[in-house]
Amino acid sequence: MWLTSSSVGRKLIMSISGLFLIMFLAFHMSMNLVAIVSSEAYNAVCGFLGSNWYAVAGTAVLAAGVFVHFAYAIMLTLQNRKARGEQRYAVSENQKSVEWSSQNMFVLGAIVIIGLAIHLSHFWAHMMLPELAGNEELLLTADGTTYAATDGAGLISYTFKNPINVVLYVIWLVALWFHLTHGMWSAIQTIGWNNKIWMCRWKLISNIFATVVCFGFMAVVVYGYFA
Ligand code: HEM
Repeated sequence: MWLTSSSVGRKLIMSISGLFLIMFLAFHMSMNLVAIVSSEAYNAVCGFLGSNWYAVAGTAVLAAGVFVHFAYAIMLTLQNRKARGEQRYAVSENQKSVEWSSQNMFVLGAIVIIGLAIHLSHFWAHMMLPELAGNEELLLTADGTTYAATDGAGLISYTFKNPINVVLYVIWLVALWFHLTHGMWSAIQTIGWNNKIWMCRWKLISNIFATVVCFGFMAVVVYGYFA
């Protein structure tokens, strides 16, 4: 099939799955900002998103999006390396001028995936997972404090009281920023919106979007540290 066998088709799949994940990020960041405004409102949103089968279906679609994006990233990276062969280590003047993030998308993406695994162990594993297992009971954390599976606000403050987690999230969000600044306009270029004027605009929009999203998440981390 053209979509999976040709390199253009594979790039298209990468782009569409990437744009889907970008939409999730915008929603997820906005949802998390609610925690800064009101713990009760945030927990109400968490309760709504975590305890019904529509939310579980959404999680499954999201997981499929992450899987497809990552699997095709590996395929395209291997394909590019094979195509370049011995040239892989030779750096031309032209390559030097290419943005740093565009040359390091795979490494940045790998950091984002590792960060995501850590993040899911902090939140999802203590919220949706116990609810799915039918365990509505309070969760006992290492310091002896208890949180309900729907107490996202409590979990934010518990998680970010630990400075190691703050540092890990800052590293994760910086990698995400670089990944997004290149990934967003590159995806839009691949799907065909690539005339010269609009590419300049999309690069600017991508920088603004990545900055707003990453600062939004960062604000929640800082809030959790002081809350
Ligand atoms: C301060 C930063 C963040 C906070 C406080 C936060 C909070 C949360 C919470 C509370 C949940 C569990 C929701 C539930 O199970 O009911 C969750 C799930 C999740 N988060 Fe985050 N998040 C943050 C950043 C991020 C970032 C940067 C990403 C992606 C790069 C991300 C991706 C996810 C995913 C994929 C899930 C699973 C969603 C689902 O179950 O449908 N989060 N997050």
